[in-house]
Amino acid sequence: MNNYFATVSRGLEEVAAQELVRIGAEEVRPDFTGVHFKGDKRLLYQANLWTRTTFRILMPIAKVPSLNGDELYRSVQKLDWSEYLDPDMTLAIACTGKNQNLNHTHFTALQIKNAITDWQKRRGGNRSSVDTENPDLLINAHIDEKHCIISLDSSGSSLHRRGYRPAIGAAPMKETLAAALLEMAEWTPDLPFLDPMCGSGTLPIEAALKALNIAPGLYRNFGFQSWLDYDDNLWQSLLQDATQSQKHDLAVPIIGSDRDLNVIRQAFANAESSGLEDYVKFARQELSTIEAPADRGVLLCNPPYGVRLGKEAELGELYQLLGDIFKQRFKGWTAYILTGSMKLSRQVGLRTSKRIKLYNGTIPCTLLKYEMY
Ligand SMILES: C[S@@+](CC[C@H](N)C(=O)[O-])C[C@H]1O[C@@H](n2cnc3c(N)ncnc32)[C@H](O)[C@@H]1O
Repeated sequence: MNNYFATVSRGLEEVAAQELVRIGAEEVRPDFTGVHFKGDKRLLYQANLWTRTTFRILMPIAKVPSLNGDELYRSVQKLDWSEYLDPDMTLAIACTGKNQNLNHTHFTALQIKNAITDWQKRRGGNRSSVDTENPDLLINAHIDEKHCIISLDSSGSSLHRRGYRPAIGAAPMKETLAAALLEMAEWTPDLPFLDPMCGSGTLPIEAALKALNIAPGLYRNFGFQSWLDYDDNLWQSLLQDATQSQKHDLAVPIIGSDRDLNVIRQAFANAESSGLEDYVKFARQELSTIEAPADRGVLLCNPPYGVRLGKEAELGELYQLLGDIFKQRFKGWTAYILTGSMKLSRQVGLRTSKRIKLYNGTIPCTLLKYEMY
């Protein structure tokens, strides 16, 4: 069994841990912006293919002393890189964290790269060259006080890139956050879903992917596919299982609407490129004219809150309108608002039954729950 570490957005640690447990991960332990877990190679592939809320699945290979650049260089040279890297493979180093001496991630990455390629040269071979765009081996180095945790990045690029989004709206939500919000809202595919301010459609599209049991990683590539121990038979069998377990019918409507025609066009394009155009309904509609499409369901939206879109002072009326609409037209529904402004949320004028703190990128936000009886 190997140790793994899934990186996640702040506030999503518990949701990601639950996802990992569901796919069979062992010794799952949420930490700050990540989740530790254990498993075999099959689990590593499954975590990349199936988790909807994680950014990257890292495989830590060493924790080495790194008080300064020289010590880091020497530490990295003590590892046997031939286990992970052939000279004809390209590499890249991504660094996070810093200490007093290693406080520029570029410099830290250069030290590690030099240590590895000098190690290869000393063994009489060729050196790997750097490819920052599409490396065969992406190494993740995290510096804390005195140590550097060196991991292999099995995802390659962030898992929020599902591969379906050619078009983006003015303030699109990351797919990983959308998937986590659906979990936090306890939305299940037997409940109608509506986002009346859907922008480029991230929430309805993630809802449809989940309802149809479409693996979020089905249409992209991963870092582990160019690793020396890559098992293509195993990967192909997991892909086949994933394809066979897809569903082809939705029991309930999944709907997104927005007043902005341009973003609705993008939402259509996104649904089309993920093959979901027959499953998700998108419409251009002003919030004030929204009606409940069923007598129960989950409404979840991410209205503007002044930081990225609109001005806080002008948005009070919009939040008030949301509260009025929930109360008057959505009896039997559970409604959620994700907002970065508690001041605006007070304009909704309804009692919340739950508040969950999380981050949308770097913006602290709250998911507010309203039960409409
Ligand atoms: C923060 S964005 C939502 C982003 C979306 N979650 C995504 O992933 O792309 C807020 C959206 O609310 C829409 N909006 C603002 N006022 C509205 C109104 N009165 N009626 C309908 N949509 C509105 C905007 O057009 C914008 O697309």
